[in-house]
Amino acid sequence: MSILVTGGTGYIGSHTCVELLDAGYDVIVVDNLSNSKIKAIDHIEGITGKILKFYKLDILNREGMYNVFEENDIEAVIHFAGLKAVGESVEEPLRYYQNNITGTLVLCEAMQRYGVKNMVFSSSATVYGMDNESPLTEDLPLSATNPYGWTKIMIEQILRDTYASDGTWSIALLRYFNPIGAHESGRIGEDPNGIPNNLMPYITQVAAGKRKMLNIFGNDYDTPDGTGIRDYIHVVDLAKGHLKALQKVIESNGIDAYNLGTGIGYSVLDVVKAFEKATGKEIPYVMADRRAGDIASCYADPSKAYRELGWKAEKDIYDMCKDAWRWQVNNPNGYE
Ligand code: NAD
Ligand code: UFG
Repeated sequence: MSILVTGGTGYIGSHTCVELLDAGYDVIVVDNLSNSKIKAIDHIEGITGKILKFYKLDILNREGMYNVFEENDIEAVIHFAGLKAVGESVEEPLRYYQNNITGTLVLCEAMQRYGVKNMVFSSSATVYGMDNESPLTEDLPLSATNPYGWTKIMIEQILRDTYASDGTWSIALLRYFNPIGAHESGRIGEDPNGIPNNLMPYITQVAAGKRKMLNIFGNDYDTPDGTGIRDYIHVVDLAKGHLKALQKVIESNGIDAYNLGTGIGYSVLDVVKAFEKATGKEIPYVMADRRAGDIASCYADPSKAYRELGWKAEKDIYDMCKDAWRWQVNNPNGYE
């Protein structure tokens, strides 16, 4: 029996493939390489000493997806494939809805057709919107401020309705907080195209001399140092959370949402200081205007994942910084 990983050459998917292979699962990856590189497969196989099966395929390709289920004995699906850039989703909403939602519908129809009803889905803390107070718990009302966030809320609803219609489905909705860092081998990591939108890849590029300085988006938030607070989680901890969720969906039926975060909030300035301490590199920065759509503070109550999945994050902010930096130093141009 194999695990199908959609989006498995991407940032979180590649780290999850390593954990799956290390744990002895057979892994099949479907990815159209729209935001990742085929080289990630070599690196995953190099780290683990194991082989996976790769299909370069768009999950919207129905016949192609049927073929994957026809050719393999699939026990469960971990569904990462999706577009994830918030700003881009505002510019190109139809592309985001088409890719993320239609892609998920085609995947679910293929799963239903082949009787595969176990799924772990990549949701996001963005579904908590702007109005809830941290620490965030899974039962809070959901809302979104951009098309990307709406795709996550809509897909969660589609999956809830699917389970409601057929109680033999088993689905975990994993709401990630802010994944950063890289595998400690330094061989897989985050490989953004162009100018990074997210904090940690921007910091590592400043440290590497590729960018002059960090712009800190807002120092007048209602937080202790005025900069935004987030719950950063090491991508390897996050990957391990998927294996715990996978066990749960294989063993029982139902649908549940879980926060995957550390429960600790760090400000932008905290992250800069932690990075400097962990790596010895100085990060020049300048205070800039707030970024539209950002909130002051967002961190998880991760206790449900601990209670029900037996998972908690193990790595600290210094591990996250050291590992992100090692990936940057070893791969100055990502997978290129
Ligand atoms: P990523 O872009 O690195 O990985 C996504 C992968 O999906 C890429 O390899 C891309 O090529 C592939 N893909 C996209 N559309 C596809 C399609 N139609 N068919 C086949 N493959 C397709 O992103 P990531 O950071 O690894 O995120 C993985 C998932 O987690 C996404 O669904 C994302 O929305 C979600 N998520 C990410 C974050 C984050 O901060 N990184 C936070 C919350 C949720
Ligand atoms: N920030 C800066 N300068 C930068 C980049 C970011 O100051 O150059 C700040 C932001 O204002 C924010 C913090 O650093 O306060 C983190 O920003 P990121 O862009 O790294 O992360 P976000 O919390 O904005 O968003 C991330 C993902 C979203 C996801 C969300 C919740 O990018 O896709 O986490 O899971 F929806």
